Amino acid sequence: MPASLIVWILTALILTAVLTQRWWEPRLAARGVDVNGWPLRWWIGGYPRVVLRMWFTWRRVCLLNGLSISNRGNMRRVGDIAVTGMVLRPKPPRMTFPMPTRGGLTVRVYMHPGQTPSPYLSAAHALEHAWRVYGVRVSSPARGQVLFKVTALDPLTGERPAHGGEELRLLQANVGRTEEDDIWLIDFRKVPHWLVTGATQSGKSTLLAALIRALSVQRVALVGIDCKGGMELGLFQNRFHLLATSRTEALGVLGTLVTEIETRMRACRTAGVRSIWDLHEIDRPAPVVVIVDELAELFLSDGSREARDETEQCAVNLLRLAQLGAALGVHLVLAGQRVGSDLGPRVTALRSQLGGRIAHRSHDEASAVMTLGDVNEDAVIVAQTISEDERGVAVVVSGGRWKRARSDLVGAADIAQIANTRGPQWPFLSGPVLEKEEGQAGG
Ligand SMILES: Nc1ncnc2c1ncn2[C@@H]1O[C@H](COP(=O)(O)OP(=O)(O)OP(=O)(O)O)[C@@H](O)[C@H]1O
Ligand SMILES: [Mg+2]
Repeated sequence: MPASLIVWILTALILTAVLTQRWWEPRLAARGVDVNGWPLRWWIGGYPRVVLRMWFTWRRVCLLNGLSISNRGNMRRVGDIAVTGMVLRPKPPRMTFPMPTRGGLTVRVYMHPGQTPSPYLSAAHALEHAWRVYGVRVSSPARGQVLFKVTALDPLTGERPAHGGEELRLLQANVGRTEEDDIWLIDFRKVPHWLVTGATQSGKSTLLAALIRALSVQRVALVGIDCKGGMELGLFQNRFHLLATSRTEALGVLGTLVTEIETRMRACRTAGVRSIWDLHEIDRPAPVVVIVDELAELFLSDGSREARDETEQCAVNLLRLAQLGAALGVHLVLAGQRVGSDLGPRVTALRSQLGGRIAHRSHDEASAVMTLGDVNEDAVIVAQTISEDERGVAVVVSGGRWKRARSDLVGAADIAQIANTRGPQWPFLSGPVLEKEEGQAGG
């Protein structure tokens, strides 16, 4: 088979490269190529093995999963009788040469005329077992073709260096990596508001820290609300324009932000535009990302009238920010263990405004359903498979599609570095109001 010859030739080339590594490695390093980052073990050992397995099993897997067809009809005439039967040796669809990636491979398959991608989607699980790989993701990038993205091992386990160096737009944050070994990108211009949930110690605050790290180098104003006394977000106090550590302070900060969106609305109306992104660059205020850790603390009331009024006002202000903020450059990231109607009457309306959902390990099915049930039912099942050992692993749903991802761990050195970064100098349009409020909020 000429294809297997190609694999052996490739393997021989890679082996030669390994044996002569001492010669070429320093030369490449001198030119700025980091060979240590290459997944040589996978390319030399795993990749040829998986490719051979794919070729040897392809015909059988296609037959068993209904992907093969025959050009000849399945009816024959025997004497005067027409007999219907199964055609022997139907043809599997044509597969291109599998191309190695950092942690797996990709292969394109040309569908037979009359086929759709759905039987290929159903066969993905069978392919994972037949090829003994962690995952097979099926997509259809062009008509008549399906693309298999094969992941050899779970990329979310073990210690792996964080991805970096990619050019990102304003409000795009690289917070970790996905199970396809891509960067995990939170893009507020595409999905303006996010909900983050998970049981205690599942990785919510770590994800928020990764988000703050990514946004801290951009021209973005950060506002924090951490009613756990500022234990988590207080670490980044210097980078926040406003930080509230109690519900009373949070109410002040949220009121300030509502005033800010009203000012931005007026500015847009005066300029005759529909969002701050249509304003001239010089007049455009910096976007604001409001990060709330432990949302339930905002809604917790001791039953007194004053506390009830405060929680009610917090809920109304958050809802206004969620409803009006996207076009005005005010974005919300709300994190909590459970975000259900038991927190208050406005929570369901608030949740429905948060298009992006991130669910870490949950205590029970109901919590996963609260986060993901209304956007993607499959994701609820996947979220429940996250184990206690998989801290930081989450199911991310945006635009109706789900993926598994893991946030980067933010260490003490990163925290110190973030604390030294400075945000945009005056990000708000409603300046004097904020100056007054800032003093109150302790930011
Ligand atoms: N992405 C990650 N990679 C590795 N370890 C992680 C990751 N995320 C979290 N952890 C580990 O899990 C621990 C708990 O994480 P974190 O404090 O973010 O959880 P949490 O959901 O905010 O918990 P709580 O509800 O108690 O505030 C961290 O101290 C860290 O050791
Ligand atoms: Mg936390």
